[in-house]
Amino acid sequence: MSQHPVVAIDGPVGSGKSTIARRVAERIGFRYLDTGAMYRAVTLKALHSGVDMNDPQALTEVARSSDIRLDATPDGLRVVLDGGDVTEEIRSLEVTNNAYGPSQTAGVRRRMVELQRREAERGPLVAEGRDMGTVVFADAPVKFYLDASVEVRAKRRYAEHAAKGDDVTLEELRHQIELRDRRDSTRSVSPLRQAEDAIYVDTSDMGIEQVVDHLLGILREKGLLDGERAPADGASP
Ligand code: DC
Repeated sequence: MSQHPVVAIDGPVGSGKSTIARRVAERIGFRYLDTGAMYRAVTLKALHSGVDMNDPQALTEVARSSDIRLDATPDGLRVVLDGGDVTEEIRSLEVTNNAYGPSQTAGVRRRMVELQRREAERGPLVAEGRDMGTVVFADAPVKFYLDASVEVRAKRRYAEHAAKGDDVTLEELRHQIELRDRRDSTRSVSPLRQAEDAIYVDTSDMGIEQVVDHLLGILREKGLLDGERAPADGASP
């Protein structure tokens, strides 16, 4: 059981959950826990170590020997792996395309859950991922499941990659998203699914701020907004 309140946000890739979770956390003064970043950090380390991405034992060993921290800094959340800043590196297509092995490995998940629950002992969290409401913080007082159509999600990802200058087409991204949806929701350990008590939000036709306001309204109703703050100036998406 976590001692501090946790707002659990789950959903598929491109549902807007990272941006929304970060904004909601800023507004209510909770820390933001990006659990996808943790799986990405393990994936990066496994790739660098030359480990077989289909070898559960080797992947578990990598996770067990990893120190992963999420540091809140004035420049945003920094992901620190074994003392080194990997914030940008973990967003590469190579990491994205190889995260499946580690994320379906029970031993890796055990280690990640342990680190994630430890974060909740340090203070209130907005925790975002695939299994926050179903497994890691099954006792969270508020759970959201964010979703959007594949078409909309592919366009969102395309815009992000285009902004970074990545050479990728909308069609490729749509295909990757469908594949990741299938993998995320059919893996045997902690598959992506909506917790029974989670509030479903379809963000397909909503802007970021609209979704944030919608979630804040629900948190307010539930009495979780004692520390609510005004939106930060120049908050980027
Ligand atoms: O949300 P993301 O794309 O940054 O997640 C990276 C990978 O980690 C993706 O393959 C899904 C997986 N993941 C997971 O299995 N469980 C989580 N709680 C978060 C992410």
